[in-house]
Amino acid sequence: MKNTPQTIYSKKKAGEKIVSLSLYDYPSARIADEAGVDLIMVGDSVAMVFSGHENTQSVTMGDMLYHTKAVTKAVKRALVVADMPIHSYDDPATALENAERFLREGGADAVKLEGGATILVQVQALVKAGIPVVGHVGMLPQSVGDKKYRVYGKEPGEAASVLQDAKLLDQAGAFAIVLECVPVGLAEEITKAVQCPTIGIGAGPSTDGQVLVYQDLLGIRSGVSPRFVRRYAKIEEIMGKTARKFCRDVQKKKFPSRKESFS
Ligand code: KIV
Repeated sequence: MKNTPQTIYSKKKAGEKIVSLSLYDYPSARIADEAGVDLIMVGDSVAMVFSGHENTQSVTMGDMLYHTKAVTKAVKRALVVADMPIHSYDDPATALENAERFLREGGADAVKLEGGATILVQVQALVKAGIPVVGHVGMLPQSVGDKKYRVYGKEPGEAASVLQDAKLLDQAGAFAIVLECVPVGLAEEITKAVQCPTIGIGAGPSTDGQVLVYQDLLGIRSGVSPRFVRRYAKIEEIMGKTARKFCRDVQKKKFPSRKESFS
């Protein structure tokens, strides 16, 4: 059965952990969905992971719609959340117009926006219009830009501000909130303070769910290894080995064989 914002929301009360992956393409979505992932985020990290950019600031509505469509085409059970790119929710009217596009054209079930108090009116407008919203507090990649990623909630006043943002989003009707790069204690405090589930990335074990970027999990993102990533496989090695074998076979005239050719 297809997950809904309500089924995700009720997992917190039931004490069931929410499993989430951020991914951007049809085959990955099909595999993750069949594996039992509850919630798939079409993250704007696509800019860095898929397109090789330095940060997420170059992503457009067109890019995100393209990837959202590829993902929703494959998914039968997971809830699909499209990340709203930078400047696509600068004011309530723009947020509404673009969020509706993600649902109508992209086939997404919900949208995710970065920020708390600063985007509260946008979140309120979307919820009022019946658009399911996932919040995102702590480290906000769209605002960080080229600055180094770091843990949020350690500087004076920062923890209180992240907690307040989460509470505001919860009250505004977000059905889940992503906590990115926050200390374990703060993640625990937020998770207890809000009604909706929290989904952590670099936020320790006490959040109601966990999200990772699929390429990180698979070990396809060489060079980048944040502390919170657990690599479950070394797919990059397999990909390299396979490509090298193909090069050798073509160069040595071992590919294609007769069986692989038409007579
Ligand atoms: O862009 C992204 O992939 C995300 C998730 C990691 C939460 O925002």
